[in-house]
Amino acid sequence: MKDNEIRKLVGKLTLDEKLGMIHGAGFFRTKEVDRLGIPALVSSDGPMGVRGEFENDKWISSGHGDDNVTYLPCNSALASTFNRKLAGDEGKVLGEEARGRGKDVILAPGINLKRSPLCGRNFEYFSEDGFLTAELAIPFVKEVQKSDVAACVKHFAINHQETERLSVDADIDEDVLRDLYLNVFNRVLMEGGALSVMGAYNKIYGNFCCESDFLLKKVLRDEWGYKGVVISDWGGVHNSKEAALGGCDVEMSVTDNFDDYCFANPLKKLIEDGEVPESVVDEKVFRILRLMDKLHMLEGKRKKGAYNTPAHRKVAYKVAAESIVLLKNEEKILPLDADKQKRVLVIGDNATRQHSLGGGSAEIKAFYETTPLLGIKEKLGGNTKVDFLVGYDSEITLDSSEINWQQESLEKRKEEAKVKNKINKEMLSEVMAALKNNKYDSVIYVGGLNHNYDSEGKDKIDMKLPYGQDELIKNILSVRKDAVIVLMGGSAVEMNEWAEDAKSIIWSYYNGCEGGRALADVIFGDVNPSGKLPETFYMKAEDSSALSVGTFGNLDMVHYKEGYRIGYKYTDHEAIGVQFPFGHGLSYTEFSFSGEKYSKSSRELKVTVANKGKRSGKETVLVYGDNVKTKVRELIGFEKVRLDKGEKKTVSIKVAAGYDNVSTKRSC
Ligand code: BGC
Repeated sequence: MKDNEIRKLVGKLTLDEKLGMIHGAGFFRTKEVDRLGIPALVSSDGPMGVRGEFENDKWISSGHGDDNVTYLPCNSALASTFNRKLAGDEGKVLGEEARGRGKDVILAPGINLKRSPLCGRNFEYFSEDGFLTAELAIPFVKEVQKSDVAACVKHFAINHQETERLSVDADIDEDVLRDLYLNVFNRVLMEGGALSVMGAYNKIYGNFCCESDFLLKKVLRDEWGYKGVVISDWGGVHNSKEAALGGCDVEMSVTDNFDDYCFANPLKKLIEDGEVPESVVDEKVFRILRLMDKLHMLEGKRKKGAYNTPAHRKVAYKVAAESIVLLKNEEKILPLDADKQKRVLVIGDNATRQHSLGGGSAEIKAFYETTPLLGIKEKLGGNTKVDFLVGYDSEITLDSSEINWQQESLEKRKEEAKVKNKINKEMLSEVMAALKNNKYDSVIYVGGLNHNYDSEGKDKIDMKLPYGQDELIKNILSVRKDAVIVLMGGSAVEMNEWAEDAKSIIWSYYNGCEGGRALADVIFGDVNPSGKLPETFYMKAEDSSALSVGTFGNLDMVHYKEGYRIGYKYTDHEAIGVQFPFGHGLSYTEFSFSGEKYSKSSRELKVTVANKGKRSGKETVLVYGDNVKTKVRELIGFEKVRLDKGEKKTVSIKVAAGYDNVSTKRSC
């Protein structure tokens, strides 16, 4: 439809009809206008798949058993593939599944940067690096939207902590805000063409993001020229007038009093009293109708999508397999030879835990989820005896009546930690007894975090492994130095108590429905690992700039004193030792780089990568440069290549203007 036709349609709507289109009339939909053939706008969470159905006005699962979906690797997992094609493939699956489930808007991807390793929602975000985030989120969004579904990029902006997320304000230099944090949104909205964006809960320069004239009008509309729809985070609007004038288009919330939402009767009154011009509502409705038109919602030729298809499962597997990061592999302990395993001991709660139904709004009802133990047993078959011991007690709970799901205080988390971080002595003894007499060919530990830790509404108090796992791992390594240590989670964890003693360490983010199989394929060598860390694994949380130079946590105001230097940009500059650096990830083969050359005139770096090992594999070339404006050395290019054994390829990587000392070296 042409703009003037959409305007004509707006002109036919009554004020009540228009208001119905700009606020929730259910938890995940607006109101339709049947007489003009305008449907409701129906959304659903993302980002790891399409969330289960709720009753329209109750936070109760509709329970029809028709909403199980493909469980996709989380965005951090996707980021560790450093593979734009796979990011697009995962976006395509999410778009098709969202449409297949009848959705118009998928509330994904999350593109906030991992400023602090303690943010509870880090698993929903890609990386601490803005370039990597944007480079992957752009193809992701483009592919989502090919299914006539709008991506809703979130959370705009600087939603970097869950503690006090409903009220916290930010003291941040405007250049840092723009160049580091807003630039990622700019790229994903403008280059990626995301049709909608979610205003964050928190405040920015004294105003709630969903009511911020600076953020939503000055920057987003006037400077960037963004034409899509701004949707509030659920309950992110507090003041009808400010939000209406400030540029939010659709108000969504968590309560069932839909007529009392700020954009319902209260806004109607303001319009009737002449305090807000009706034209403000017309503009919002215009943008919503334009989005509906782009999604072919106003005519009958819309893609129908599909969910739970075999093709989707293949994508979930591919991403999972490429995302796993081999952190350490001394004496080439890995891969294990499946044919030589007569008896294997698997230890750890994450070997059998399913993660899909956790984490807050990112939870989904997986059609299925393979656990590591299932993956290992499927691979080894019936002639290998695989024993399992849970190793630690992850079921310790506190009084749940005290838990506030919208935002939980760090004090509460500290109390919780006192209980949760104790080792279960009985479970430990069981493990040590099993390890006596050396009866196992291999011992595989699968631990780490779970969604009690990586979750919306609560941050972590430190980077330590919960449930006494450090002690457990140390005990295991004291008798089985060759134990394979696999950790899972949504962002960096501390390993310094035992990492030196372990010969092999594998890291996996929440890895979707095929995660267990992909992990088994890496452990036993059917897949040559090629994931790289999209974030710094600090020795401890206080080594991150957010927690040392800046502030984080229970505060009215977060101080971004670290400026541009977050993640590796800080630890590199300050020469702070880390457990594993950003970009780290080993392979079962060896690669060498030669003939590196950078042409200033064409801004192109060329380097030849050779596979010197005995098996094919994938390597990612990372290119860094000194940002002329900010003086920060940062990632400005990357390319992943597949090489057969003995093969060589010259890789060319074009970089943006404004960088000196362009090279594959991190420190120059
Ligand atoms: C979250 C959003 C989510 C929304 C709807 C909010 O609590 O912050 O990310 O999309 O709920 O479930």
